[in-house]
Amino acid sequence: MIKLSKRLNKIAELVDFGASVIDVGTDHGYVPNFLCENKISRDVIATDISKNSLEKSIELTRELGNEKEIRNILANGIVNEERDNIIIAGLGGIQIAEIIAKSIDIAKYSKKLILQPMQKTNILRRELNNMGFEIFDEEIIYEDERYFEIILAKFLNYKNEDLKEEDFYFSKKLIEKKDKIYLEYLKEKKDYLRSIIKSFDPNSQRSKKRNQELNSLLKKVEEAIDEISS
Ligand SMILES: C[S@@+](CC[C@H](N)C(=O)[O-])C[C@H]1O[C@@H](n2cnc3c(N)ncnc32)[C@H](O)[C@@H]1O
Repeated sequence: MIKLSKRLNKIAELVDFGASVIDVGTDHGYVPNFLCENKISRDVIATDISKNSLEKSIELTRELGNEKEIRNILANGIVNEERDNIIIAGLGGIQIAEIIAKSIDIAKYSKKLILQPMQKTNILRRELNNMGFEIFDEEIIYEDERYFEIILAKFLNYKNEDLKEEDFYFSKKLIEKKDKIYLEYLKEKKDYLRSIIKSFDPNSQRSKKRNQELNSLLKKVEEAIDEISS
């Protein structure tokens, strides 16, 4: 029986029962095999760009006897086959956005994109909006002294023109849900922003501009904290 980390377990939990799935950048193949073992999906594609990584997934699939349900494919990004759910986890936000853009027609068909960026979540949110995807929910996990944001999106063919660059730094959904873990995340962000603002040289022109940007971001973080705490 596979025991997943808290982060991967949440990702697996978000997969729709009976969905056809692709796990892009699967590495060890934990999620695909977990989905099969737990009868959540019987039709999973596991891809990885690295032969070495994919070998681990192939080995685990064989070991657990899931060859009929999991197709391990060496590929760069999403393969050309429609899937109900697309998982892209553990990669950078920019990388995830590029993978989606490259296979936009397949991604448009998907009922649910389950995306877990390791950094640059703001850029991923912005690019999803630019491509016409709606973020219909978000989750946040705290594990090993780190926060992991998970974005759930689907194609809506609508770009919200009202959103500003700063808006993409925040999870509207987690604020609406008054998520307690997100509150802790925002508090840490507030302390971090304060500490860099403090370290700036007040006489440098370059610092002045950056200082303004960071102060504006700090204000938004404080507003979000107030909203969740209210
Ligand atoms: C840090 S691991 C994440 C593994 C797993 N998804 C997780 O969240 O624990 C990233 C994996 O993505 C693979 N990868 C990176 N870029 C990729 C791409 N464009 N297409 C497919 N796989 C990719 C890497 O080879 C690596 O195995």
